[in-house]
Amino acid sequence: MQSKKLIIGNWKMNPLTAKEAEKLFSVVVKEVSVIKKTEIVICPPYIYLEKLKKIRTSKIKLGVQDAFGGDVGAFTGEVSADMLDNFGVRYTILGHSERRSMGESNADINKKIKSALTSGLSVILCVGENTRDQDHGYFNFVKTQLEECLVGVSKNLVSKIIIAYEPVWAISTTVDRKDATAADSLEMSIFIKKVLSDKFGGEVSKIRIIYGGSVNTKDAEDFLKNGGVDGLLVGRVSLDAKKFTEIIKICETLNK
Ligand code: 13P
Repeated sequence: MQSKKLIIGNWKMNPLTAKEAEKLFSVVVKEVSVIKKTEIVICPPYIYLEKLKKIRTSKIKLGVQDAFGGDVGAFTGEVSADMLDNFGVRYTILGHSERRSMGESNADINKKIKSALTSGLSVILCVGENTRDQDHGYFNFVKTQLEECLVGVSKNLVSKIIIAYEPVWAISTTVDRKDATAADSLEMSIFIKKVLSDKFGGEVSKIRIIYGGSVNTKDAEDFLKNGGVDGLLVGRVSLDAKKFTEIIKICETLNK
């Protein structure tokens, strides 16, 4: 397990204006100036990157929510991993359930992962089942996601991969959502490590596993302490500077 824990904010398609984005980012920057032991990443919409890059901070790295597989060319509407790397972005979320629900397949995600890793970006690969069944079929579902998304990925690059376990049934925008527990997270993180160690052997210790799905200031500590994870991927609450920084501070106090 790597020592630094990781807190990632996924802003999704928010906020509505650049002004709000700058304000949100600036407040977080100010609040985390004392943070030393926690790695912080914020993934805003592309359109705000330019402005946020100008806000000085050594504590927060910029990430994005998707990156196209390919360098340059006739791909209307896409932004490539090479472009993002040249711009100074260090992380990309890939395979988020909200993109999968728009039709992205494991094969599509695999292409994007390889391209992002080749460009030098770190990849936050999201996996997670839509529902839980009595027969525990969801383990196989996640296994298939991992295996198909990581086909052909070289062992040498595994330290650049973070796996975000995000059970779709626990995400804040899922209708009739349920709370996942730290025990759910722990069980799945053990399983994910097993699948990854079958594939990458001892290198698996370089892959961080994080949890996402309605993380808030009340349950962050439990997930970090008892969920078997090296960090958190925060959606809705990352849009609230005060609460998001509270989660970062909780993480910092647990980082010994
Ligand atoms: P919420 O924290 O809003 O449930 O979002 C989780 C998520 O999808 C982060 O990528």
